[in-house]
Amino acid sequence: MGVWSDRVVPRLTDRALAAAGLDDLRAAACAGLHGRVLELGFGSGLNLRHLPAAVTTLDAVEPADVAWALSERRRARSRVPVHRSGLDGQRLAADDESYDAVLVTFALCSIPDPASALAEVRRVLRPGGALHLLEHGLAPDPGVAAWQRRLDTTQQRLFAGCHLTRDVPDLVAAAGLEVTELDQRYLPGPRIGRAWSYASLAVARRPLDAA
Ligand SMILES: C[S@@+](CC[C@H](N)C(=O)[O-])C[C@H]1O[C@@H](n2cnc3c(N)ncnc32)[C@H](O)[C@@H]1O
Repeated sequence: MGVWSDRVVPRLTDRALAAAGLDDLRAAACAGLHGRVLELGFGSGLNLRHLPAAVTTLDAVEPADVAWALSERRRARSRVPVHRSGLDGQRLAADDESYDAVLVTFALCSIPDPASALAEVRRVLRPGGALHLLEHGLAPDPGVAAWQRRLDTTQQRLFAGCHLTRDVPDLVAAAGLEVTELDQRYLPGPRIGRAWSYASLAVARRPLDAA
């Protein structure tokens, strides 16, 4: 991966995402979480202060040691016990149907194979359990989407594999999860930033009758 991806990008990501004015959206993504929760792409722990009181434990999957170290103070302040349970969302060391909910924010853009990660999410969620997500991705406007396709390769090189062109709700539905709540919009900011700012806030459930 190299020094840039392993050491610099996690610090840049922590600073940029902490300063991005996303607290209301993070709180909305975390609303309704309860019980035993898994977070994929935990990063530097920016969601911790938004976890509802009903969350009993949080298992964090995060490959970047620098991001995990940056989360230390947030973990120390967290009311919810946090345990680093793995390094790769594409292969979870968890039993089938072992979580009440899964949380993922701004990470399905970076996980190399999001379909594998979402298949794992479906496997570890109990039937009726919910995936809560907040992600950026492919915009519906043809002009913005064209820019996203032009910029995608450079974006991946500069930001540790982050893609601009993933249609996250489509990927979630293709994994056999039922999208029950979906709010999509551009985040506030200048029009020139729209390639990065089309966001999906969603809840998707593992069907009750899932095998
Ligand atoms: C843009 S950061 C978002 C961090 C955090 N979720 C947030 O909202 O602030 C993307 C995160 O996904 C993590 N990531 C990349 N590949 C991953 C994988 N295969 N499994 C789990 N997480 C991964 C990165 O290390 C990084 O921490």
